[in-house]
Amino acid sequence: MADIIEIRELSFHFPNNPKLKIIDGISFDVKKGDFVSIIGPSGCGKSTLLRNIAGLVRPSSGKVLYESKEIKRPISEISFVFQDFALLPWLTNAENVKIGLSSFEMSDAEKRSRAFSLLEKFGLTGFEDYYPNAMSGGMKQRIGIARAIISHPRVLLMDEPFSSLDELTANVLREDISEMLHTSDVSVDAVIMVTHNVEEAVELSNKIVVLSNQPSRVKAVKQVKLKYPRNRHDSEFIGLMDDIYKELTS
Ligand SMILES: Nc1ncnc2c1ncn2[C@@H]1O[C@H](COP(=O)(O)OP(=O)(O)OP(=O)(O)O)[C@@H](O)[C@H]1O
Ligand SMILES: [Mg+2]
Repeated sequence: MADIIEIRELSFHFPNNPKLKIIDGISFDVKKGDFVSIIGPSGCGKSTLLRNIAGLVRPSSGKVLYESKEIKRPISEISFVFQDFALLPWLTNAENVKIGLSSFEMSDAEKRSRAFSLLEKFGLTGFEDYYPNAMSGGMKQRIGIARAIISHPRVLLMDEPFSSLDELTANVLREDISEMLHTSDVSVDAVIMVTHNVEEAVELSNKIVVLSNQPSRVKAVKQVKLKYPRNRHDSEFIGLMDDIYKELTS
């Protein structure tokens, strides 16, 4: 399969603090069909790396390519899901989802109808005209994901999408997302997810990039070849989790 995203020798420091290197020469590729998890110690620069891939900030050196073209700003082919949902509280749920279509030329009625049908797929029928404040965390993240995928992006970036949720809600949403991706309801070509949860990474991804402490470098890249849906009690699953824990703590 062809590479859809290439990260080439990416280094990053914040402009106001050039001496503090956050990312130090990270390279890896994402192919069509990949679900890549990025895992690493707290504060190592995972969110910063994802923001570089999204074009929200520019690398200090190195580059990120989408289909062989350098990413210099956010592009419509790549969408972002935030840890804290980032919904606008003064807009209804359907209006929040419609934001994902704001750069598209389409009648408002068409946008609304698309938002409604996506919210239905996410099990939120009847809540379209409610405001996010009235929603639980799990519902809010469904809306955040719906907003990100309504424009049919090719690549979905998710920054700890389940970590603000309680474990039960996170499990249900993880399973729903995994099922959607594997039944092609969501037609993205690749997902890159930041997480600090080893089990989640092994459950969802076919490739796991383990980062070091700051300044972050690639410590290991693990392939996960287990079939979906994955069984957390499977010995291979548990063995892989152990390997990754070892990488994280060595
Ligand atoms: N706007 C900023 N200006 C200067 N330094 C920053 C800024 N934002 C983040 N940092 C620093 O950059 C480093 C990496 O932050 P980042 O949020 O990317 O880490 P992370 O791996 O996502 O952490 P976590 O696991 O806590 O989510 C941290 O040391 C943080 O203090
Ligand atoms: Mg982070």
